[in-house]
Amino acid sequence: MSHFNEVANEWDNPQKVKLMQALATNAKKHLNLSKNLKIMDFGAGTGLFGLEFIDYADSLLGIDVSEGMLKVMEAKTSEYPKIKTKLIDLESEELDEKFDLIVSSMAFHHLTDPKKMAIKLARMLNPKGKLVIVDLDKEDGTFHPDNEGMGVKHFGFDKLELETWNEDKLQLEHHLIHHVEKNEKSYPQFMLVLSKN
Ligand SMILES: C[S@@+](CC[C@H](N)C(=O)[O-])C[C@H]1O[C@@H](n2cnc3c(N)ncnc32)[C@H](O)[C@@H]1O
Repeated sequence: MSHFNEVANEWDNPQKVKLMQALATNAKKHLNLSKNLKIMDFGAGTGLFGLEFIDYADSLLGIDVSEGMLKVMEAKTSEYPKIKTKLIDLESEELDEKFDLIVSSMAFHHLTDPKKMAIKLARMLNPKGKLVIVDLDKEDGTFHPDNEGMGVKHFGFDKLELETWNEDKLQLEHHLIHHVEKNEKSYPQFMLVLSKN
């Protein structure tokens, strides 16, 4: 996605670092995670969200469609052999791997078919695995300053819509874990957890 290639080198600003740390800290409070997990960060970007889970990782794979964003993640993590990246578009390509934990932050509103991706990622979980999706609650289209230019395809997702993503009837949790204050508004962010038995 050309927008993210253009902004990749400036992505890790103090505001974004703080936001992703807050999201990850709040998300982890709802997850009873064990250690040595095989983790995927879907739509990893520069890794700001997924890398917050590194203490639980045996391995962490950052997946993204933006080479520029992944290059920044690689530069930050090159000394850590358990952290890898992969340039792949799972909307059209396949990855024959399973994970104990798949996390994703602020990527689903960029997808053509987010429900299809949630179903696909849930089927890439190992037994006892968890899929954790963090994104914007339904918003009025004012969160991003340039929806089209920034590749925004959905103005967030409400709980009822998210429930339709649970095609395989996994255990579902939905929490509002954070609010972004801007434009004199408060934009809630949700966390959807689909857990396998
Ligand atoms: C708003 S950024 C969030 C990055 C990171 N998760 C974070 O929280 O800082 C959205 C990311 O989703 C990625 N993305 C968009 N479409 C994607 C797709 N089909 N597969 C994987 N990643 C995608 C973009 O390239 C971008 O890096």
